[in-house]
Amino acid sequence: MTARSTAEARVGDPVGSIDTPALVIDLDAMQRNLARMAEFAGKHRLRLRPHAKMHKSATIAKLQIAAGAVGVCVQKVGEAEALADGAVSDIFISNEVIAEAKLARVAALAGRTKLAIAVDSPLGVDRLAQALKAAGSMLDVFVEIDVGHGRCGVAPAAAGALAHQVVAHGLRFAGLQAYHGRAQHQREPAEREATVRHAVSQVRAALAGITAAGIACPLVTGAGTGTFAFEAASGVYGELQAGSYLFMDRDYADNTAASNAPTFEHALFVKSQVMSCSTSHAVVDAGHKSHAIDSGLPRVWQRDGLEFANGGDEHGIVHRRAGSAVALPALGDTVWLVPGHCDPTVNLHDHFAVVRGGLDNGIIEAVWPVDARGKLT
Ligand SMILES: Cc1ncc(COP(=O)(O)O)c(C=O)c1O
Repeated sequence: MTARSTAEARVGDPVGSIDTPALVIDLDAMQRNLARMAEFAGKHRLRLRPHAKMHKSATIAKLQIAAGAVGVCVQKVGEAEALADGAVSDIFISNEVIAEAKLARVAALAGRTKLAIAVDSPLGVDRLAQALKAAGSMLDVFVEIDVGHGRCGVAPAAAGALAHQVVAHGLRFAGLQAYHGRAQHQREPAEREATVRHAVSQVRAALAGITAAGIACPLVTGAGTGTFAFEAASGVYGELQAGSYLFMDRDYADNTAASNAPTFEHALFVKSQVMSCSTSHAVVDAGHKSHAIDSGLPRVWQRDGLEFANGGDEHGIVHRRAGSAVALPALGDTVWLVPGHCDPTVNLHDHFAVVRGGLDNGIIEAVWPVDARGKLT
């Protein structure tokens, strides 16, 4: 459901009217990012399945699908339910689910939308099969392999046996989930390329085991905003899962861009207002209840010489960079912040104020709910 307006942002009003702190999408920038990634995937003849854990919005997921994405990924059953409720029709839970209560929800959801899930254990496959049997539903199953991240996923050598178990249960084996999270923020492209090269070697080993088990592997899926161009060039990945490209947070902008990847613009901002001033600093009304700080602090947008310091839950401190004599913002001024990490920042807000025509003079074109906010189970 698209909210028409909220108390903080009314459709048709100027951007200046948005009450602070607020999560704001620069729609022109977001649409350019969306088109660039869709074009990249099309040019490389790859499926695009953007990660929606980033935006948590059915409206945005449907815009991505309208631009050519085959569907979206999520990490949580609750995220999948929220997006399905918003009429998103093809969802991959790119994560393991082991609790029986959650698997019952997965099986129920598979009865009303096209669904896929990742597995990395015999117990997980058994329980999934049981839940689907009880519900009389079916979904696609991806075997996740650990390609070097050291998080979920079986060793490549174990992929063939797990795929065999999936097939033996009468489930649809859809391919390999092969995502390397830590590679995404290695700062230099050469480092990221080397990490993906290793990941690809792990995928090839898993593929050999699956072939040896007499099973066809329809698809290898993975990749994020930091590395997708390398997976795309690998010849083994058929689907890209990048998510953050759409909003581009500060942490991703701190990567040195790869020459073989399109460039993306910041499209997600926290609008804040100066609420207190001194000669040494200004205080804005956005602290870490407004933006996540797990990946570092926000960047002050388009005000050279100023930087943001943590002022606590509800406050941000804006001061001059060492050596800068730039004027501090005045009491009541707007300060735009680029969040350090978009996914958990979005999870702090109920709505996006969606602005067309730029952050200085734009108009609020829409207010979109963060449908999957807080859907942790
Ligand atoms: C399994 C999986 N795929 C894809 C992504 C997308 O990464 P990003 O939003 O950094 O592009 C993530 C992000 O954490 C992920 O966990």
